[in-house]
Amino acid sequence: MLAYIFLILLAHPFYVSPANTTPNGNKSIFILAGQSNMSGRGGVVNNTFDGYIPPQCQSNSSILRLTKGLSWEVAKEPIHQDIDYYAICGIGPGMSFANSILKNDPKIGVIGLVPCAVGSTNISQWSKGSFYYSQMLNRTRIALQGGGTLKSLLWYQGESDTLNVEDAKLYKSRLQKFFIDLRYDLKAPFLPIIQVALATELGPYKKIIRQAQLGIHLRNMKTVDANGLKVGPDYVHLSTQAQVQLGQMLANAFLKFASEKE
Ligand SMILES: *[C@@H]1O[C@H](CO)[C@@H](O)[C@H](O)[C@H]1NC(C)=O
Ligand SMILES: *[C@@H]1O[C@H](CO)[C@@H](O)[C@H](O)[C@H]1NC(C)=O
Ligand SMILES: *[C@@H]1O[C@H](CO)[C@@H](O)[C@H](O)[C@H]1NC(C)=O
Ligand SMILES: *[C@@H]1O[C@H](CO)[C@@H](O)[C@H](O)[C@H]1NC(C)=O
Ligand SMILES: *[C@@H]1O[C@H](CO)[C@@H](O)[C@H](O)[C@H]1NC(C)=O
Ligand SMILES: *[C@@H]1O[C@H](CO)[C@@H](O)[C@H](O)[C@H]1NC(C)=O
Repeated sequence: MLAYIFLILLAHPFYVSPANTTPNGNKSIFILAGQSNMSGRGGVVNNTFDGYIPPQCQSNSSILRLTKGLSWEVAKEPIHQDIDYYAICGIGPGMSFANSILKNDPKIGVIGLVPCAVGSTNISQWSKGSFYYSQMLNRTRIALQGGGTLKSLLWYQGESDTLNVEDAKLYKSRLQKFFIDLRYDLKAPFLPIIQVALATELGPYKKIIRQAQLGIHLRNMKTVDANGLKVGPDYVHLSTQAQVQLGQMLANAFLKFASEKE
């Protein structure tokens, strides 16, 4: 009986699908995940964000973000603050990425960013079934319900897996499984993935992580190298200017995907 009523509702001419209820039913959706460098600490000194938002990271009515409360709003730095709430967030690569895409491909329409990164998380905390994995999956599914296409996962993580040699050695298989599980659960087997490789001038275990990242070769995956990008005064996180640069590098990688398809 209930199923019958439901069918009538669906067939009813006044039934409005969720995609038609928003003015931005054709968003280009991007997942941002990983740890602090993806969340953003640019401009954060002594636990205070200096408030400086470079021109490349300014808000634009064509760049939305999914809030923690699962609604869309015009994105404004720091875009991860409500998700990565235990820390003080600053500039990350997301806004520079989105502005760069808009500039280079105005036809892309409205961009929907889905911030999911959380500082200090290790790869095991992102494995299928974990809290952060489910949160990311849920947020992405809800983002898509408003109408749109999932364009890519932007991933920047690994520092937290450099603490001991066993974890470092297991990183490659854990990371690969994470990518494959996510594509499977999102029913997007060829979801473009853009990962960031940690810089080279790092300790021995960091080298293993970097080698793991560079050693994964999945279809539709690109790697952007953080090597050479500047860390800020805390010596731990990318500076605001480095995040601007990284966002542009991620955008170039994404635009390459698009041009390869044509
Ligand atoms: C951060 O705090 C420390 C200790 O209070 C102080 O010595 C340092 O000058 C501060 N750094 C900046 C950039 O404000
Ligand atoms: C938003 O981005 C578009 C495309 O780059 C640009 O033409 C427009 O001026 C931007 N709007 C604002 C308010 O910056
Ligand atoms: C949705 O946007 C994409 C660009 O990302 C475009 O190719 C497609 O034609 C649009 N679809 C509709 C129904 O507007
Ligand atoms: C990952 O982090 C969690 C939470 O801090 C910790 O319990 C776990 O032991 C870590 N796992 C690995 C493999 O480092
Ligand atoms: C994700 O959604 C599922 C199904 O609605 C729910 O059971 C789960 O608690 C959610 N997980 C998170 C972390 O939000
Ligand atoms: C942030 O990125 C830089 C460059 O890859 C790296 O050296 C640093 O360890 C990262 N910090 C964290 C906390 O991930």
